[in-house]
Amino acid sequence: MKQVGIASWSGKRIWVIGASSGIGEACSKSLLAAGAKVALSGRRIERLTQLAGAAPINQTLVLPVDVSHEQQISSAYQQILVNWGGLDVLLFVAGIYTPLRADQFEISIAEQTINANLLGPMRAVAIVLPEMLKNHAGHIAIVGSVAGYSGLPKALAYGPSKAGIINFCETLHYDLLPLGISVHMISPGFVATEATANNDFEMPALITAEQAAQDILNGMEKGKFDIHFPKRFSRFLKFLRILPYPLYFWIVRRFVQI
Ligand SMILES: NC(=O)c1ccc[n+]([C@@H]2O[C@H](COP(=O)([O-])OP(=O)(O)OC[C@H]3O[C@@H](n4cnc5c(N)ncnc54)[C@H](OP(=O)(O)O)[C@@H]3O)[C@@H](O)[C@H]2O)c1
Repeated sequence: MKQVGIASWSGKRIWVIGASSGIGEACSKSLLAAGAKVALSGRRIERLTQLAGAAPINQTLVLPVDVSHEQQISSAYQQILVNWGGLDVLLFVAGIYTPLRADQFEISIAEQTINANLLGPMRAVAIVLPEMLKNHAGHIAIVGSVAGYSGLPKALAYGPSKAGIINFCETLHYDLLPLGISVHMISPGFVATEATANNDFEMPALITAEQAAQDILNGMEKGKFDIHFPKRFSRFLKFLRILPYPLYFWIVRRFVQI
């Protein structure tokens, strides 16, 4: 059984959560240019309004949402149903990254991170899924990270939140494939955005948000479940995670100097 791709974006009703900057903004711009209708969500309404202002009229909805609040996600979804009568694609991009090591561990940072990065997508999926199940159609795409593959330095809250996304997507895919709903698990390497702007180390295989958006949309068009990029970096990390732990930890200590 193979999951369905997207032959054309034109007229597709897409909800981008995390559209106000970085990868989500770049995806939204590409989708709008390809003729999709895009509902733009995030907390910074002025950024969403600016993005909508540059798009053709009637092609966007501006729906400010904090993904920590289930009620806000639910109200935004109702707006989509009222205006467009349905949703074809949920593209959940929103996420936060706070560098965290064990000697500075703060539970409040872990709670905020899990709340936005893992519970946020779970809330959105819970809200859109019943209608997709009824129609036996739809796409659920969630941005995780290669940092979810295995434990890495400075990622004591971020890493577990993204590892959770991998397991969530795998399980969703298993359940939803026979029911006609496509799941896309998106695992970027380093992307130059506001989230990585303060990193004080050289980021290997760094790409632009526009390149990331292109990889994401190409993968979804082809109906891929596992969308990871840039390949020269993501394949290396996939290889590392199958190594025996002593070798894995030796390589990470030797080569990751952060
Ligand atoms: N950049 C990288 O190297 C990289 C690598 C792997 C994975 N990723 C993942 O890619 C995704 C996008 O990150 P980015 O690099 O594009 O960073 P970014 O420019 O900081 O974008 C983050 C987006 O998430 C939204 N967001 C954060 N918290 C939110 C909340 N509570 N409610 C609603 N929206 C929220 C932000 O909107 P508001 O602030 O307006 O709410 C913004 O639109 C994240 O999931 C990140 O973990 C990034």
